[in-house]
Amino acid sequence: MKHYYYTDEFLEHLAEPHNVGVLENPDGYAEERAPSAVCGDTVRMTISINNESIADIKYKVYGCAVVIAGCSMLSFLVKGKPIVDAEAISIDLLSEKLGGIPSKKEECLGVAIGALMSAIKQYRRNQDNPLK
Ligand code: FES
Repeated sequence: MKHYYYTDEFLEHLAEPHNVGVLENPDGYAEERAPSAVCGDTVRMTISINNESIADIKYKVYGCAVVIAGCSMLSFLVKGKPIVDAEAISIDLLSEKLGGIPSKKEECLGVAIGALMSAIKQYRRNQDNPLK
């Protein structure tokens, strides 16, 4: 049986996650939940947008170590970056940035990425249909 060891990079993000919290008056908000048959873990994501870039990002995680470290790394990677760059982030890339994770935990990174993508979609919907 193969044992898996998390990298120092992963453990640093787990011990002191970046950008934890909730933005007031976010431009995009989403809650992503892993299927309850899997684990039911949840990420609440808030983003602020300026000039089509992610000016700020904060999240709250109710979940496992991988989704916590994943949200931390994800927020670190996209903060200050164009939305199109954020939309290009894949599970493979996020895993690589964390130094690798067990393949059976990849869906946990999917929850983190899904929360960000849903928040971006919500921002875009608001752009298309601004409240008067
Ligand atoms: Fe649920 Fe990781 S076990 S997100």
